[in-house]
Formats: sequence, C-alpha cells, structure tokens
Amino acid sequence: MTNLNSFFCCFLIILFLGCNSNKKRYFDAVVTGHPQATQIGIQVLENGGNAIDASIAVQLALSVCLPSAGNIGGGGFMICRMNSGKAYALDFREKAPKKATRNMYLDQDGNIVDSLSTYGHLSIGVPGTIDGIFEAHKKLGSMSMDSLFNYAITLAQRGFPITQKQAKELNYYQKDFKKFNPNNNYLQSNKWIEGDTLKQVDLANTLRIIKDGGRKGFYEGEIATSIIETTKENGVISISDLKNYKSIWREPIIFPFDDYTLISMPPPSSGGIALAQLLMMLSNFDLNNVEHNSIEYIHLLSEIEKRVFADRSIHLGDMDYYSVPINDLLNFDYNQDRAKKIKLKKATPSNKISNGEFKKLESEETTHFSITDKYGNAVSVTTTLNTNYGSKVFVNKYGFLLNNEMDDFSSKPGHPNVYGLLGSDANAIEPEKRMLSSMTPTILEKNNNLFLVLGTPGGSTIITSVFQTILNVILFKMPIQDAVDAPRFHHQWMPDNIYVEKVLYTDSLVNPLNAIGHNIKERSSIGHVNAILYNQNSISTGADHRGDNLGKILQ
Ligand code: DON
Repeated sequence: MTNLNSFFCCFLIILFLGCNSNKKRYFDAVVTGHPQATQIGIQVLENGGNAIDASIAVQLALSVCLPSAGNIGGGGFMICRMNSGKAYALDFREKAPKKATRNMYLDQDGNIVDSLSTYGHLSIGVPGTIDGIFEAHKKLGSMSMDSLFNYAITLAQRGFPITQKQAKELNYYQKDFKKFNPNNNYLQSNKWIEGDTLKQVDLANTLRIIKDGGRKGFYEGEIATSIIETTKENGVISISDLKNYKSIWREPIIFPFDDYTLISMPPPSSGGIALAQLLMMLSNFDLNNVEHNSIEYIHLLSEIEKRVFADRSIHLGDMDYYSVPINDLLNFDYNQDRAKKIKLKKATPSNKISNGEFKKLESEETTHFSITDKYGNAVSVTTTLNTNYGSKVFVNKYGFLLNNEMDDFSSKPGHPNVYGLLGSDANAIEPEKRMLSSMTPTILEKNNNLFLVLGTPGGSTIITSVFQTILNVILFKMPIQDAVDAPRFHHQWMPDNIYVEKVLYTDSLVNPLNAIGHNIKERSSIGHVNAILYNQNSISTGADHRGDNLGKILQ
C-alpha cells in the first residue's frame, strides 16, 4: 500500500471511530456515600471537570462529611477507564511503617494482644490518600488542584448538617474518641442529633496547607510533624515513612467473559483476582433456570466463594513483597476443576476445602464512589480508614483521623482479623509492605463499551457484594437500583457460615440450607454498593438504600 493509501485508510478509520463515538451519548453522574459529596462531584462536572477531577473533589469532600471512612489519613484504590478505552489502576493503599515487625501484635508468649492492631497508634499504616490524589491529577486531571480543594475547604469551614445515621454513629464512638485523644476533642459532643452542624475549622486549615504545599504539604512540614507527635507514644511511624510514601500505578486485572470485560484492582487488593475466579467457577454451571436468592443460588455461590477465599488466605498479598501465583489463580482450567468438585445438593465443610496447590509459586468502614463524565470517562474509587473512624486517633491541631489498616495484615497465622479473614506468609507484616485488601473498585465493559461502574465498603464482604451486584445486572437483568438494593449473602470459607441479610433469614430459606450442611448467620446489613449503569444511550445510578448514599445525573 502506498503512503497515501495508508493515510486514506487511517483517515477513514478515524472518521468511522469518530462517528461511532458520536453516536454514543455520555453523561455526568456521581454516586457517593454522602449527599454533600455527591453534590460537590456534580458541581465539578458541571463546571467542565472530568471524572478524575470530580473524584479528587469527592475524595476530599468525603474526608469532611464522612469522617468515619472518607479520609486524608487512610488509603484506597482507583480504577478508571478513559474514553479511549484505556484502563488504569492506582494503588494508594497504606503501607507498614519501616519499623513494623512480623510479630508486633504478639506478646512474649506469641499470643495476640487484643485490639493492638485495631485501635490506637500501633494500628496505623502510612497514609496514601493525598499522594494518590496528586498522582491521579498529574496523569489524568484537567482542572486546577486549587479549585478542587476549595469545595472541601468551604464544606469544613462552614459545616454541614449531619444525618441521622451519622448522629447515631458519632454518639456510639464518643468513648473511643475520648480515650484515644487526650490532647484534642474533635467530633466530641454530649449528644449529637440529626441536623446538628458539624464544622471542622482545623481540618479546613489542614486542607488549605495541602492545597498550598502540594503532596509535600502533607508528607513533610507541620502536618507530618504533628502526625509523628500525635502517635509517638506507642506508634512506630517515622518522618521518613511519610516522606517516602508513593502511590503506584498498576496493571489492572482485565478479564473478558461472554460479552463483558471486567476491569478491577490487582494486588494488594484481592478483589480483582477473586472476582475473576468467582466468574470462572460460576461459568461451570447452567444458571438459566436458577431463581435469584433461591436455596440453589445461595448454595452454589457460597460453595464457590468458600473456594476463592481459601485461595485468598494462602496466596494473596502485596506482590512487591510476595510472589502471588497470579497466572495459576487466573487459570480457567484450575477454576473449572475446583468448581466441578462442588456438590449441587450438599455443602462441603470449609475444613475439607483447602487452597489450590500450585507446582511452583511464581515468582466494616470504607466508602466507595462511582463517577462518569460527559467525555466518556469513568472512575471507580474505594477508600478507607479500615474500621469506623480508623484507629480513632485524630492528628492533634489538624483535625483528621488516622487509619487502623495494619489489622488487614495477618498478625499471626490462623488468627482472624477484624473481618474474620485468615492469612499466611503472603500477607505477613513486613516493613513497608502493603496489607492485603478486599476493596474492589470495578468497571465492566459490554461489547467494549462502558457498561457498569461499581464498588462497595464492607471488608471481606466487598468481593461477594460486587460479585452479586454484577450477577443481578447481567444474569437477572435487574435495573441498577434494584440490583444494588437486592438482599445479599456472603461466605468467606472461614468461619464456615453463610451470612445473610435479615430479609433472607427466614425459616423457608434457613431450614433447607441447614439440611444440606450450611450454617446460616444473620447480619443486619452487607455492603453499601454505589453503581452507575450505561444501557445503550441512557444512564442510571444505584445508590444503596442501606446508607446515606446519593446518586445524581446531569441530564
Ligand atoms: O481493605 C480492606 O479490605 C478493608 N480495610 C476494608 C474495610 C471496609 O470495607 C470496612 N467497611 N465496612
């Protein structure tokens, strides 16, 4: 072909793609765990920002209006898919301080010291959120960082009315706030009631310092000094831990199945690999006539989930420190073979299920938000302090909470973490290693087009909640709000229980499941999924009714 011909050919392709993408309509949409944050995300998009810009403003807003989980003292993951189809995964997960040691939560006899990894100074991992937002902005943002900070600064300065759920939660944690903060009284009150205005003047000032100083404003200088001062009594974080923190762009897990492509988070999240394994195992079964949340359905999914969580406990950890057998875990035949051992009418006890053996080892508070923009970009972010209000430690004078993410490591083989998860060498504590996570921000393509953006908080239940929501959409064809609201259940191998939400805890469901060997336990609520669904040229949001979540679309 002559040069001219190839030019002509390229031109036609560009024209064709251009027409094609012209046909597809994209929308600005935001779903977050708090109405104030959703509103701010929408404002950014209205002002011409892209989904990345909106995600930065939302992340900062959540650190103000959802202090139990939104954060600048924690970490998280971002999956995004740009209009070009290119997908990115950003890991801004916390990491262990350099002085952390494998047995730091054990006493002299090798026993776990209660609550050391979940409360107070020693539970804190080196925060990643601020580095993450600057990194995301540098690569994919379009608006000035100043303008993105200003929304959260104003929110913190002026205050906002707390919701009923927040008032209840804040009252519940008063004792902890007092116990772990002898030198400040952030979020303390004799009694919070719905509608009270929460102003956070010190936090507004902190955000101003970071706005002016960039990432250094947080990781070096007066804020960093106060983090060390606040935590020095029992903690091990050092100034150099903060200075050296770096978020990392990773290759997303990309897994095609049927008409869909799953784009999700690789280690140190276990979510992307687990989701792909769940889908591969499920494909061994014909689900055409299986009813949603029927005995058969709950049995089958629970059996699959057990096997995937057994693998998680042995094989998954931070790939920079442990060689995760990622190709083996994602091998179709391996997962099918495991699925074939599932009995359709009988539960296999968890102690009879172990992780797969590969010949050679190659080398409950979080918050999720989903955003799309009119340019065709999509962002899925899950961010956390770990449990509600993290370590419960506020940084003196700067008004923000530090995480208790160290509990996501395996403190001792066989000892469950706060989510009941077991771990092994793969997820043992090592200096500067990232702790394994279940956070699963995810995007699904259908026929190579943007289709579904979703994720949720919920510790270990994150993986199964995302899995079930995907199935609600692609298998049961539910509208997205119904898919998100539908009752959920969860199995994580150990303990050997199916956890079901209240509405599923009925005799007609529990008795037959007991009869085939399952233990059933009731849970008040599983996950808070926030999702956006594209269907042809229309869009809809699913904001979980279990929380204060709000979805908004600019039409
Ligand atoms: O990274 C993880 O898996 C946990 N730290 C997430 C915690 C969580 O989702 C709590 N939310 N309810």
